[in-house]
Amino acid sequence: MIISQLLQSAVQLNHLSDTARLDCELLLCYLLNVDRTYLKTRPDRELTEAVQEQFQQLLERRIAGEPVAYLIGTQGFWTLDLKVSPDTLIPRPETELLVETALELELPEQSKVLDLGTGTGAIALALATEQSRWRVSAVELMPGAVELAKVNCQHCQLENVEIFQSHWFAEIALQQFDLIVSNPPYIETDDAHLTQGDVRFEPASALVSGPQGLDDLRLLIAQSVDYLADGGWLMVEHGYQQGAAVRELFEQAGFGLVETRLDLNSLERITLGRYSLPPAH
Ligand SMILES: C[S@@+](CC[C@H](N)C(=O)[O-])C[C@H]1O[C@@H](n2cnc3c(N)ncnc32)[C@H](O)[C@@H]1O
Repeated sequence: MIISQLLQSAVQLNHLSDTARLDCELLLCYLLNVDRTYLKTRPDRELTEAVQEQFQQLLERRIAGEPVAYLIGTQGFWTLDLKVSPDTLIPRPETELLVETALELELPEQSKVLDLGTGTGAIALALATEQSRWRVSAVELMPGAVELAKVNCQHCQLENVEIFQSHWFAEIALQQFDLIVSNPPYIETDDAHLTQGDVRFEPASALVSGPQGLDDLRLLIAQSVDYLADGGWLMVEHGYQQGAAVRELFEQAGFGLVETRLDLNSLERITLGRYSLPPAH
């Protein structure tokens, strides 16, 4: 069988993936250790029995719903190729909005930045890559994810990032950051989406946060003020229906310039605010 014939298997995925052809191309690229351009320029390459068999096994797992990123072990995010594992969330394209917005802020050249719930390290590593003079700290609760983020950091050859285990702020020495970012769990405990599609394979610890999905956001927003420099920014990702509730939490915590930005689907996706220390009496 040749490449173009094998890729016709994509029809088997049509009913459960919007990106059936791309999914199959990525699986085959992974097995052949080539990029997608190669598949287009060599559609007539003959495939060994072994490759065809391995492809079939991966395709069956994909048909059962496993995300492509877990099958091939990597996911592109920003300019990075990150290793992924079932210990944490697969980085999403929406989260790039958070990186983009953080890079637009007027911040000191040598800013101190904190990423809470770093997972694969996606946000922290993207920011550290773009701003080599920033010092980025990244914390994560799940030990497997901490190790994963450290591996990704090594692959990116970044020396301006430290990664460690912490339950939110618990292990972070009291200090003032110029920017705190987070994409915390924000899905409602009984959200029907949790039992559908790729998300079934991701850990609840990365997704779920109480009956309204706001438990972690509430805690992070309230506690951030103790760790922000005067004029420092907090920026969080949240569910598209949580914008109003999150803005209110920012305002209650004393943030100014509170604003929500829309993602590429025009859905409320991130909220940011600036913290100014109360005037001394
Ligand atoms: C929605 S995922 C985001 C991962 C990554 N920042 C990204 O954007 O792809 C949330 C992450 O927060 C972590 N997390 C959950 N509870 C936490 C806690 N109490 N302290 C630190 N991290 C936590 C999860 O393990 C998960 O990796």
